[in-house]
Amino acid sequence: MPGAIYAEGLVKTFGDVRALDGVDLDVPEGTVLGLLGPNGAGKTTTVKVLTTLLRPDQGRAVVAGIDVLKHPNEVRRSIGLSGQFAAVDEYLTGRENLEMVGRLYQLSARDAKNRAGELLERFNLAEAADRTAKTYSGGMRRRLDLAAALVVSPPVMFMDEPTTGLDPRNRQALWDVIQELVAGGTTLLLTTQYLEEADHLAHDICVVDHGKVIARGTSDELKARTGGERVEVVVHQREQISPAREILSGFGRGAEVAVDEHTRKLTVPVTGGAKLLAEVIRDLDARGVEIDDVGLRRPTLDDVFISLTGRHAENGSTNDDNEEAAK
Ligand SMILES: Nc1ncnc2c1ncn2[C@@H]1O[C@H](COP(=O)(O)OP(=O)(O)OP(=O)(O)O)[C@@H](O)[C@H]1O
Ligand SMILES: [Mg+2]
Repeated sequence: MPGAIYAEGLVKTFGDVRALDGVDLDVPEGTVLGLLGPNGAGKTTTVKVLTTLLRPDQGRAVVAGIDVLKHPNEVRRSIGLSGQFAAVDEYLTGRENLEMVGRLYQLSARDAKNRAGELLERFNLAEAADRTAKTYSGGMRRRLDLAAALVVSPPVMFMDEPTTGLDPRNRQALWDVIQELVAGGTTLLLTTQYLEEADHLAHDICVVDHGKVIARGTSDELKARTGGERVEVVVHQREQISPAREILSGFGRGAEVAVDEHTRKLTVPVTGGAKLLAEVIRDLDARGVEIDDVGLRRPTLDDVFISLTGRHAENGSTNDDNEEAAK
């Protein structure tokens, strides 16, 4: 039986751009799917198709047991959506925005008021509740938009980069709310550029690039597939990156040494554990490479992402990034 969110062979083109190139998804009820991918990969397009905002050129989708293409209105009644760009009414106050959503979902005036108050508290907006949204900062708008998506708890939720632009405290607050929702049986599809977030919240992860799902599995499965441990070295001076890279590539058995010039950090996948680490340190020392930090660590989701897409996951994507990706 297909899950609460199901898609098969979704294709969507915009002129020459194949935004979706055959996306398949299956999200079991009551679980969280993390959709990861670089800018322009097709995450928002996927969310738009599944939430009836965009018609695919090809493919099929079923959400909460309802065919998305045949019965879009029914689907809309069963889902909640928080988009990448906050959709709040600027001229209403935070409280009014939330009460309006409650009324749209047929809550009584009293229930809508209570729910709005609860959410304003939850998202640290109580103080600003009676100011119009146009006076809100970017992070406040984002939180208001998220609160609006949570006024009623629909069986299926979509969140497109929910915590982009949130400070750590508010991010944690949202994670808590999400975990409660899911514990209550909600199915969630979440896109994010924060791999830590996917690690923390998602049961399953799909990595998309160029409109295709290029890997899927649990965070642990993906990490295991990326293979072994990493040696990570931070050299003291930029000039020492080059000799350090040479030495590390000898330990990497053909794997490429990843270099972050800015932080002077070099990373290479290895097999051999602590003994090998001692050898690395000895060889660096012999070449006169001064080390600020060195260690052995298991692959992170970021390593998975880089090895699959050749790129870092970026934080805080904007419209401009999208335009760049389209070029
Ligand atoms: N309305 C549109 N018209 C033309 N091209 C579009 C449109 N919407 C999306 N695209 C293109 O489709 C591709 C996928 O875009 P999408 O917004 O789904 O990416 P994304 O994975 O959400 O990226 P980001 O991480 O930047 O949010 C991009 O190349 C984008 O430029
Ligand atoms: Mg997007």
